[in-house]
Amino acid sequence: MEELVVSMKNIHKRFGGIHALANARLELRKGEILGLIGENGAGKSTLMKILSGVYQADEGEVLISGREVHYRNPKEALDDGICMIYQELNLVDKLSVADNIFIGRESGTGILLKRKQDRKKTEELLQRLELDVPLDIEVGNLTVAKQQMIEIAKGISCNSKVLIMDEPTAALAVSEIQELFRVIRQLKEEGMSIIYISHRLEELFEITDRITVMRDGNYIDTMETSLGTMDELIKKMVGRNISWSKKEKSNVKKNAPVVLEIKHIASKDIKDISFQLRQGEILGLAGLMGAGRTELARLIFGADWRKGGVILRNGKEVKIRTTFDAVAQGISYLSEDRKGNGLAVDLSVADNVALPNWDDFTKHGVIQFKFMEESVEEAAKTVAVKTPSIHQIVRNLSGGNQQKVVIAKWLLRNSEIFIFDEPTRGIDVGAKSEIYKLMEKLIKEGKSIIMISSEMPELLRMSDRILVLCEGRLTGELDIKEATQEKIMEYAVMRN
Ligand SMILES: Nc1ncnc2c1ncn2[C@@H]1O[C@H](COP(=O)(O)OP(=O)(O)OP(=O)(O)O)[C@@H](O)[C@H]1O
Ligand SMILES: [Mg+2]
Repeated sequence: MEELVVSMKNIHKRFGGIHALANARLELRKGEILGLIGENGAGKSTLMKILSGVYQADEGEVLISGREVHYRNPKEALDDGICMIYQELNLVDKLSVADNIFIGRESGTGILLKRKQDRKKTEELLQRLELDVPLDIEVGNLTVAKQQMIEIAKGISCNSKVLIMDEPTAALAVSEIQELFRVIRQLKEEGMSIIYISHRLEELFEITDRITVMRDGNYIDTMETSLGTMDELIKKMVGRNISWSKKEKSNVKKNAPVVLEIKHIASKDIKDISFQLRQGEILGLAGLMGAGRTELARLIFGADWRKGGVILRNGKEVKIRTTFDAVAQGISYLSEDRKGNGLAVDLSVADNVALPNWDDFTKHGVIQFKFMEESVEEAAKTVAVKTPSIHQIVRNLSGGNQQKVVIAKWLLRNSEIFIFDEPTRGIDVGAKSEIYKLMEKLIKEGKSIIMISSEMPELLRMSDRILVLCEGRLTGELDIKEATQEKIMEYAVMRN
């Protein structure tokens, strides 16, 4: 018999009227990497929060190495060696890297001594992860990806026997993911058991030993990774087949006008970039983390200060100095960071979706609530947000559903050009294909899209043309016909 480190049986959990978990189950063996997968809202995070003491189950049994436990808080779970890295980053923006890693944990006695020891340990940890981050920088100043790495360092620092990672790679680029995998394999060698939640199927097949599938709060099945196929897994997850293939050729019409032209724009991080976007085009922006894709998007959107260059809309030069200018020019930007720029998590779905569109819902100074609600309902339905009502607080939605709210918010805007920055990050395969359909619908309506993505299959499936950035420079341009993962990578790591 395999030794079971964790055994969860018949777990039920309700939030008000929502039955988040109904007969959920999970078994984790010693020294294995177990993948956990399921659609957005399937209950993965909730199940793991029960395991790590954040929530308590309404019913069911949790055994740790055969012993029944009832954790009342995360500290009790941590003391038992169970450590969870949360999906929504959990760092304190204003604290340093070192303070964030050791917050709330005792080491030594006096404060000063503790600080010194913490610094030293942090240094060692960052070295082990080969992470180049200054110890004293406030984490709020780091990129989302770096913050994610700090979370991981924090998780590894607990000396835990069970490490739960809830979508750890959502914000990481290819090289960081490989780095993370190296560390995960090392931890497994050391006998640690790891639960790995991800919507990226390729990742699950690369790193896990077994995969457990959940649907609607229920346990569906567990398969040996080496014996299963991707199609099987998708079928178990969403109950239907979804195909994934590369776009064969550009769908842009021959005489489609150029709707946006960027000439020689530059900033601190962007070095003289020029390109055109045509009507009905999906232009993919590829590159490794730090290549400058988001920076470029923010420049076009007027969110950051531009050092020079010209932006033309429909052939005419326009001034875009602020985001208001950009919106007035019919440009929308869907941020990659849903927690920072994208969403007010303590407000309702309705408020979040309506907020940037407030003017549209006001007539002679009076807010047209009914019209607003109808519009929000429709937008939420279009992107299939799973929520009991549009009045639910966004914080209570599952991660992927929060992302859909961001998209719904911008859909209501009558934009001509959409910049999607990692639009499907953290979104399950079923919902991903919904979002792709939505993009295709926008294109049919004559809109144009710039899509930043770190997921190669997504870039190859959606783009008509792909631009590749490396260190703030445009290093390559590929028509979809000639684009391959290898060619994109080649340009992405190009040194000058
Ligand atoms: N604190 C809460 N209050 C109310 N409902 C909640 C709360 N936490 C989770 N839920 C609901 O429970 C269900 C399961 O959510 P959970 O976050 O576990 O999903 P998930 O599988 O992790 O999804 P994702 O892939 O999007 O992260 C969802 O319907 C969610 O809206
Ligand atoms: Mg989740």
